Amino acid sequence: MSATTILSCHQLRREFRGFTAVDGLDLQVAEGTIHALIGPNGAGKTTVFNLLTRFLPVSGGSIRLRDEDITRLSAEQVVGRGLVRSFQISAVFGHLSVLDNLRVALLARAGGVHRFWQSGRALNAFTDEAQVLLRDFALEGLASALAVSLPYGRKRALELATTLARNPQVLLLDEPTQGMGVEDVARTCELIRRAAEGRTVLMVEHNLNVVASLADRITVLARGRRLAEGSYQEVAADPLVREAYLGHASEVAHA
Ligand SMILES: Nc1ncnc2c1ncn2[C@@H]1O[C@H](COP(=O)(O)OP(=O)(O)OP(=O)(O)O)[C@@H](O)[C@H]1O
Ligand SMILES: [Mg+2]
Repeated sequence: MSATTILSCHQLRREFRGFTAVDGLDLQVAEGTIHALIGPNGAGKTTVFNLLTRFLPVSGGSIRLRDEDITRLSAEQVVGRGLVRSFQISAVFGHLSVLDNLRVALLARAGGVHRFWQSGRALNAFTDEAQVLLRDFALEGLASALAVSLPYGRKRALELATTLARNPQVLLLDEPTQGMGVEDVARTCELIRRAAEGRTVLMVEHNLNVVASLADRITVLARGRRLAEGSYQEVAADPLVREAYLGHASEVAHA
């Protein structure tokens, strides 16, 4: 791969009481790409995310973000370096409006969350920028709605918007279309495509249509190890991948 590697791990390992969930994984994510991590249930995908984002300590191996070894950094420190995970770090406040959720996220990026609790006026400086995000995420009509009242798909859109408000350089998405109907899946794909402009995205996704349409490169994980890697066509044609997806083989073929 000629592109610059922005995020990588080498011989990454994680054990849970003697059970090896991630077993010597090497992964390189090229800057500016959408990279998908797929694999059967229990393959270790979420654990890999937890390790990369420093939610979990590693049992072995190393993680690099650009030129820096981040293996021992805290979750907060990696966020500060531009590696942000959606749907966990960016909590949506249910009893704030959609607009205020975005303004709070923008204020947080500016490092001023504490000011918000002192004075709501600190938020006003972020109204224009929040309006842009509202438009981008087709949430304008819902600006004053409480986040808690949003339909599921719109709430996930708001979560993605609050994550992007932090302007991450590397965005990690764990199953961004999980539980969505067809229409919300299509909208979310479009949002991810736009969110990926000028950034790097690493995503775990079970919906292979989404993977086929978005991912530049795919790593297939099984039992904590890398089973295959390549374009969608390459991994879908791989007999090992078909075997790992036994019962889903036709899904792999036709997505
Ligand atoms: N905190 C934990 N304690 C013990 N075992 C764990 C823990 N977290 C994960 N595991 C085990 O590690 C393995 C990998 O789990 P993980 O959640 O990473 O899989 P996954 O690929 O994300 O699966 P899914 O597609 O179902 O989300 C599973 O066998 C799981 O039971
Ligand atoms: Mg998972």
